[in-house]
Amino acid sequence: MNNIDDRLVFRRGLALKNRVVMAPMTTKMSFFDGVVTTDELQYYALRSGEVGAVITAAANVQANGKGWEGELGVYDDKFIPGLSKLSSAIKKNGTKAILQIFHGGRMTNSTVLRGESTVSPSAIPAERPGSETPRELADFEIVELIEDFKKATERAIKAGFDGVELHGANTYLIQQFFSPHSNRREDEWGGTMERRFKFINDLVDGVTEIVDDSEVSNFIVGYRFSPEEYENPGIRFADTLYLVDKLADKPLDYLHISLNDFNRVSVSDDFKEHSMLKYVHEKINGRVPLIGVGDVRTRTDAEEVLKNAEIVAVGRALIIDPHWTNKVLSGQEQLIRRELSQFDREELIIENGLWAFLEGMMPDRLI
Ligand SMILES: Cc1cc2nc3c(=O)[nH]c(=O)nc-3n(C[C@H](O)[C@H](O)[C@H](O)COP(=O)(O)O)c2cc1C
Repeated sequence: MNNIDDRLVFRRGLALKNRVVMAPMTTKMSFFDGVVTTDELQYYALRSGEVGAVITAAANVQANGKGWEGELGVYDDKFIPGLSKLSSAIKKNGTKAILQIFHGGRMTNSTVLRGESTVSPSAIPAERPGSETPRELADFEIVELIEDFKKATERAIKAGFDGVELHGANTYLIQQFFSPHSNRREDEWGGTMERRFKFINDLVDGVTEIVDDSEVSNFIVGYRFSPEEYENPGIRFADTLYLVDKLADKPLDYLHISLNDFNRVSVSDDFKEHSMLKYVHEKINGRVPLIGVGDVRTRTDAEEVLKNAEIVAVGRALIIDPHWTNKVLSGQEQLIRRELSQFDREELIIENGLWAFLEGMMPDRLI
C-alpha cells in the first residue's frame, strides 16, 4: 500500500509532499467572462497548504468550450494575470497548483455560448433532457482544437502553475472523441476504437511536447478519464482498459480516474470481481502513478484507495472541511466537519452556484 504521508516524485521531477490532492471541482465563482474572482482566490487559498496539490476547476481552452456560467477561462492571453493570482493563492506551504483544462463540446448549450451552436465530433445530441444537437467539427477545427489545448498549456506555464490536467472525463469533448455514442465519424478521427483514440493520442503528444520544449523543467501533465458510459453505444469498461493501456505508455505524469465512489464495480459482466479502480491499477502495472477518488471521507477510506492508487483525490470532504488533510494526517479525525449548513457558507466561501450544485450532489451532507 502507498503511505498517505509519503512524498511522490513525478516523471518530470515535480515532488508532492504527501499523497492527498484536492479533486478538480467547479466553483461557478469566476466572472461571467471567465476571469477569476477574489472570492474564488480565497476559496482556493483556504483549501491549500495541506494537500500535496490542488487541481483546479475545469477551465475552457476555447470560447465555445464554456460549459456553464462562472467557469474559469484559459482560451486567451487576457486570462494570464488572473490565473497567476490563482496559482499564487494555491502555492503555499509546498502545495502544487494544477490547472484542469477542457472543452465542454456537446455538454453545454447555446445560451451559455451566447447564441453559438455547441460542437462535437458528430451531430448527435447527448442523451439528457434539453440537449441541443451539436454541429459536427470540421477536420481543420479538430487540428485547431489540439493547438488551443497546447496554447492553454503555455498560458498555464506562464501563469506559474506546476502542471495541467487534461480533462478527458465526465462526458466532455475529449471523452466525446473516444465515445462511440458522440463520435460517429467515418474519417481518420472515428470509426474503430483505434481511430476514436486518435484525437486523445495527438492531444497528449502535442501537449507533452509543448511542455518538454518549454523552459520550465518540472511542469507536469496528467490525464483524467471516466471508466464507462451508460449510453448505447457507449464507452464500455473494456474500452477504458484499452485507453489506459495506451495512455500508460505515453509521457504523462499521472492518470486520474473519475469516480463518485472508489469502490464502484463495472456494469459490465466481465469485470465484476474487483472495483474498477483495482482493474485500472493492475492494467497500468506501475507504468505511471494513478489518482483514485470517490467519496473519501476518512483516513480509512483514503488508505483503501491507496491500496489501488498512488495518490488519493478528495473533493467534497475538502469543501466541507478545508483542514481535512491536516486533521487526518495528525490523527485528529474527530475534529473533521462532516456536514454543512447555510450558516457555514460565508466562512467556507461557498457561493450560490456551488451551493446549488452541492444540493444536487450531496443532499445527505447539507443540514
Ligand atoms: C461541486 C463539484 C464540482 C465538480 N467539478 C469537476 C470538474 O470541474 N472537473 C472534474 O474533473 N470533476 C469535477 N467534479 C468531480 C470531482 O472531481 C470528484 O471526482 C467527485 O466529486 C468525487 O469525489 P468526492 O467524493 O471526494 O467529492 C466535481 C464535483 C463536485 C462535487
